[in-house]
Amino acid sequence: MSQPANDSQITFTSPHGLPTDYKELLVRMLSIQARIESEYMLAADRTLMKPLALAPTPEDKAEYAAFWSDEVRHASYWMKLLEDLGTNVDAEFMATPMPIYIFEMRDQSEDWIEYGLFSFFADRQGAYMGHEWVGCSYEPLAKIAGRVHKEEMGHAALGYRFMRRYLAREGERGRERLIRYLAKWYPAGLDMFGKSGSKRQYDYVRWGLRRRTNEQMRDDFTTEVNNLLRKLDIPIPDPAAGRRFS
Ligand SMILES: [Fe+2]
Ligand SMILES: [Fe+2]
Repeated sequence: MSQPANDSQITFTSPHGLPTDYKELLVRMLSIQARIESEYMLAADRTLMKPLALAPTPEDKAEYAAFWSDEVRHASYWMKLLEDLGTNVDAEFMATPMPIYIFEMRDQSEDWIEYGLFSFFADRQGAYMGHEWVGCSYEPLAKIAGRVHKEEMGHAALGYRFMRRYLAREGERGRERLIRYLAKWYPAGLDMFGKSGSKRQYDYVRWGLRRRTNEQMRDDFTTEVNNLLRKLDIPIPDPAAGRRFS
């Protein structure tokens, strides 16, 4: 993807003196990211120990641990950005419900392939958000966005590798399982982009905190995901089936 320009040409260099509406949107957006990613740092039992025990090979375990370590660092980025804006990621903050249900699905996973599916979808969505923030109007966020985008793309590729290895190991039985699990992970992945008609997405775009709408991002994402599933010779699920938002 090319380096985007901030179309709105608005730039804020520090957390001080931000317009009220802008600050509210920024804190809301960063809170979603922080709520999601702080679990890696603060709930290692669920986000590290459980998947590490499930990972079937030393290679899978080592790659998962390196992924988890990236996510702990990402958590530290969001915590610092929010702290500078006057919001602390504390127990009360973490007690708020998960903003996107795919993260609860991750914690309910019982088969290693689901961790592959999780990264294939959820980390890819993280990469899409990271890409939106490259060159965005809030400089402290723009500064880390390139690295986050690149690392999240790496995590999405890791998810694909977990899936490919699982298929190679498990043969036809693995393929059937993957297709069965995909029926719930595919809609959850597409749902990560929210409702196509939501009003707030346009506020983000107007303030230079994003460029694409939910629908544009979901369309790009669907094309990319479908191409990769075709490479694995997996049938593409119906994009309307099992969806909670559209
Ligand atoms: Fe991350
Ligand atoms: Fe990630």
